[in-house]
Amino acid sequence: MKGIILAGGYGTRLMPMTRVTNKHLLPVYDKPMIYYPIQCLVNAGIKDIMIVTGGNNAGDFLELLGDGREFGLKELHYTYQQGAGGIAAALKLTEDFVDGDKIVVILGDNIIENNICGAVNDFTAQKAGAKIMLKKVPDPERFGVAEVDAKGKVLNIVEKPVSPKSDLAVIGIYMFDEQVFEIISTLKPSGRGELEITDVNNAYLKLGTLTSQVLDGWWTDAGTIESLHRASNMIAETGANKK
Ligand code: G1P
Repeated sequence: MKGIILAGGYGTRLMPMTRVTNKHLLPVYDKPMIYYPIQCLVNAGIKDIMIVTGGNNAGDFLELLGDGREFGLKELHYTYQQGAGGIAAALKLTEDFVDGDKIVVILGDNIIENNICGAVNDFTAQKAGAKIMLKKVPDPERFGVAEVDAKGKVLNIVEKPVSPKSDLAVIGIYMFDEQVFEIISTLKPSGRGELEITDVNNAYLKLGTLTSQVLDGWWTDAGTIESLHRASNMIAETGANKK
């Protein structure tokens, strides 16, 4: 299992804080934002990690993180995304690094209270396909939203729906097999001009190989002023990435 952290983009929802730096380098309570997704992967036993960066001051990641020894890693891998083509476009850049393995992908602005060890173990045992993680939220219209049946089986996922069919957000932690790159090649840009990760998940759903799990403990993104502030408060109160 390899780990991918997506940390590109221009962080426009956090302007002017992101005018001269990358969103994932901003402080969240007592650490730069990127520390949280790295620790999340490391806690799940994933040691082979690539960071996809881009936008402003992408070189600062190297200066901040170096070879990853602070996290007990032997090395860290980096790649660069030109422009902002969306989550799926960023993921496509990791194809050679992934080299046929299964992957856990985490968005660089997603922070969790606990860990994903159980889900990663289940996905290791899953023959093929993908696994997404869900969390009840008060503001589903900000996220990818999963409609589920009475048994909790995902029926479809809609990106930022105006009238959400449920309050279950698809959080920014995804597990994929090698087929993900083939699926990304078939995608067309969405209304916001991006290759959407929601389209990737819906493709797996159509193939009948998408599983899901509700995350335990709190989850937040940190890509808006409100959520960045909330993330800092939640970490101050309870801590993040508990083993
Ligand atoms: C992205 C995904 C969305 C997901 C969210 C989680 O949204 O497109 O499906 O629920 O991350 O943080 P974005 O932050 O690009 O608006």
